[in-house]
Amino acid sequence: MLGRKGSGKSTLARHLATKTKRTLILDTLGRDYGGGAVVHDRASLYQYYSQVQHQSDFCIIARPRGDDLPVAFFELCKTAESIWMIVDECDRYCGPSQIDPGLYWCLNYGRQFGISVIGCARRAASVNRTWTANADWIVAHQTQEPIDLEYLAKFMDISGLKDLEPFQWRRHGHSSIF
Ligand SMILES: Nc1ncnc2c1ncn2[C@@H]1O[C@H](COP(=O)(O)OP(=O)(O)OP(=O)(O)O)[C@@H](O)[C@H]1O
Ligand SMILES: [Mg+2]
Repeated sequence: MLGRKGSGKSTLARHLATKTKRTLILDTLGRDYGGGAVVHDRASLYQYYSQVQHQSDFCIIARPRGDDLPVAFFELCKTAESIWMIVDECDRYCGPSQIDPGLYWCLNYGRQFGISVIGCARRAASVNRTWTANADWIVAHQTQEPIDLEYLAKFMDISGLKDLEPFQWRRHGHSSIF
């Protein structure tokens, strides 16, 4: 999910989270997600996951206060099976030339283990190419920076975009993806 600040990325991800089962959310800013068990540190994350890991439905919301919880989050997801990961502000954990090793593994090989990854970031050019190269879906909200538009144009046909009618939201959080 890409788009400038306030374009609705977290809102859409939050909506998707109501549809997914076995969901682990990295709520980077600590206030975008609710409706799950909130953990703030590695020990609580692992402890809670060990209690629910065999259940068909759970939602864990990791709210980091430092760098250790995101690392633990990706390490845990790497060992999990049949989960949805939602990573808000995902460019915090990767960039054009670096990426968290656990996140890298999940993006590259997670599919084999039923690991699906949803990421939100403002700028296409700020996300690691591993992510966009492996994406089944790219949702691009308002994007204005030329570098980002150029990047998006490389892998999708945006020539007709200027002729489209502006999209009007009709219902808060409505999505046709699911
Ligand atoms: N479909 C929608 N209909 C109405 N309002 C919406 C919709 N999506 C988002 N909003 C509103 O727009 C505001 C910003 O949304 P949101 O926090 O999802 O943006 P964001 O893209 O995640 O921004 P940031 O990059 O700052 O995290 C919120 O107040 C939200 O309620
Ligand atoms: Mg957001």
